Amino acid sequence: MHSLVWPLLRVTEQAALAAWPSIGCGDKNAIDGLAVRAMREALNHVAMRGRIVIGEGEIDNAPMLFIGEQVGSGKGPAVDIAVDPIEGTRMVAMGQNNALAVMALAPQGTLLHAPDMYMKKLVVNAGGRGAIDLALPLAENLRRIAAALGKPLSALRLATLDKPRQQQAIAEASRLGVKVFALPDGDVAASVLTCMKDNQFDVLYTTGGAPEGVISACAVKALGGDMQAELVDFCQAKDDTPSHRQIAHDERRRCREMGVDINRIYGLDELVGSTAILFSATGVTGGDILRGVRQQGSMVRTQTLLINGIDQTCNIIDSLHHQ
Ligand code: FBP
Repeated sequence: MHSLVWPLLRVTEQAALAAWPSIGCGDKNAIDGLAVRAMREALNHVAMRGRIVIGEGEIDNAPMLFIGEQVGSGKGPAVDIAVDPIEGTRMVAMGQNNALAVMALAPQGTLLHAPDMYMKKLVVNAGGRGAIDLALPLAENLRRIAAALGKPLSALRLATLDKPRQQQAIAEASRLGVKVFALPDGDVAASVLTCMKDNQFDVLYTTGGAPEGVISACAVKALGGDMQAELVDFCQAKDDTPSHRQIAHDERRRCREMGVDINRIYGLDELVGSTAILFSATGVTGGDILRGVRQQGSMVRTQTLLINGIDQTCNIIDSLHHQ
């Protein structure tokens, strides 16, 4: 696994560099396509036997980096790979902050297989470990986290996504005096920011993408934090309409095929069953953790967060690239 640290960094760099010229183009699918293609090409140069477990969808609706796809040179360690070539496609399309090219890997058989559906997530850093229980109401969790961190509720900082489905939770936390940071997109960055030293948030609570949830879990585990998650169907995340019911029906079938359960609470060790994790995120547009891709003279500069669960290091790496 150690041999994969630098190649992994190059993979997310390549995805970010491919997307960079199209920042602000307004077409999120085009941007995603550029990053996926670059990430796949870079992955196939890495000496590993990789299997995509969190990817761009199923084989029939995703031409590349689909769940089950084998990547790598075919020699080297056997690993499970979770990719999000662009976390925040809308942000890149609109020229907004905080978009990342992200991937994580862990020994084969250790990452939860999850379809592309919604997931409820609760994340805390090392100080809040053991204090969370998704089966309890949000208010109870916030009280327990504040007690574990030795803070009053009024000093607790909660990150969430600013989506219609979160408005009730936002109102509830605000009533308790908790400081709420409602972000337009990007719960991987918010999970990382919750768990890093000098953390910007104390807790992340949101319903977002399940793929982003598993990728976040890799970073959370390597940074010593804690997380619980629950897959929720489309009707629960949005609202109960006939067309949403059809989507929810398909999601249930996919979950059965993949051997995961809807409405079951997964602990961190079930989301990621190893500490030998490598996580890499390269800034596409500038944000709270990383600077975005930028021109520097005749070169292009990238910034990448590399979290290494094997030797428990966390580094931000600047690279210069020839154009
Ligand atoms: P994309 O990379 O697919 O654009 O995801 C951005 C994101 O904000 C994720 O961080 C989050 O988990 C998900 O979208 C939430 O989904 P939705 O936009 O459907 O509410």
